[in-house]
Amino acid sequence: MFTNAPKPTLIVHGGAWAIPPEMAADHQAGVAQALKTGHAILNWGGTATDAVEAAVTILEDDPTFDAGLGSFLTSKGSVQLDALLMDGATLRAGGVACVERLRNPIQAARLVLDKSPHIYFVGAGAEAFAASHGMPLINNRELVLERERIRLRDAQMRLSLGLTDITFSGPLSHDDKSSETPADESPSLGFESHDTVGAVALDQYGNLAAGTSTGGTLNKAPGRVGDSSLIGCGCYADNESAAVSLTGWGEPIMKLVLGKWATDRVAQGATPEVAAKEAIAYLYKRLGGHGGIILLGPDGQCGIAHNTPGMAWGIANSQGLRTGLTV
Ligand code: GLY
Repeated sequence: MFTNAPKPTLIVHGGAWAIPPEMAADHQAGVAQALKTGHAILNWGGTATDAVEAAVTILEDDPTFDAGLGSFLTSKGSVQLDALLMDGATLRAGGVACVERLRNPIQAARLVLDKSPHIYFVGAGAEAFAASHGMPLINNRELVLERERIRLRDAQMRLSLGLTDITFSGPLSHDDKSSETPADESPSLGFESHDTVGAVALDQYGNLAAGTSTGGTLNKAPGRVGDSSLIGCGCYADNESAAVSLTGWGEPIMKLVLGKWATDRVAQGATPEVAAKEAIAYLYKRLGGHGGIILLGPDGQCGIAHNTPGMAWGIANSQGLRTGLTV
């Protein structure tokens, strides 16, 4: 490592929602495993992009989270995945959306970033691109868990009965209590869990990267794309500002282009800690949105905020490895 080189830092998240106590240990363990792997890559001299890809791959493979294996199902019962990976050194990005036959969409996003003049592929075109670079195409059934079939069946039954009471209603956290309470834009179904995953990293060369991956929202219409894989919405990285990954109901985050909003705040002089809190406050105040954010500056300063009851997060840096379920 160079003298005065930046200290490798990795932040990951595994969604922001009312994580029940019986699921707390799985969330913490999944986040810790992603941190250990990603931070080891950084310490061995790997790039921020390598570390983010590896950390998100672990979270995609962990059925605890709504990304990759075990994701929420669409209204038709399939898993449809979205992911973005962005390199803050070059501003190159790779995104895929609505893929059904890739086990690890973040790895397909890496291929787009590295090997394509384009930034974004969707559906069958994304799968064909990944396959042309050696990724195996799987049967969608390999990503579908019985747990999720039951969850979808129950949700659709409640909807058919006109029951909409599974939605969180604000205020959801201590931060909200003093806020104005705009109309909550969250649809009535599906806000029971937001386990979108993401990671942001700073490597010893001073470069930032960010990645976000999701199965989207429960009972979503096939073809719906959320914030996670859209550049500047659920994910963004620029060495001149910060790296960010968001989780939460995607539509309000998209309307505010909230990832870029947060990194711009850092470029304007806010610390990542302050900018993260401001972004979540803005999401709620402007659109009644709920979610969580991780934000990492080029000097290794970290910001984490959420306005949901819980958020699975972890940080690995020179001070060690920490995980938590609230901040
Ligand atoms: N934030 C994930 C989604 O709305 O798709």
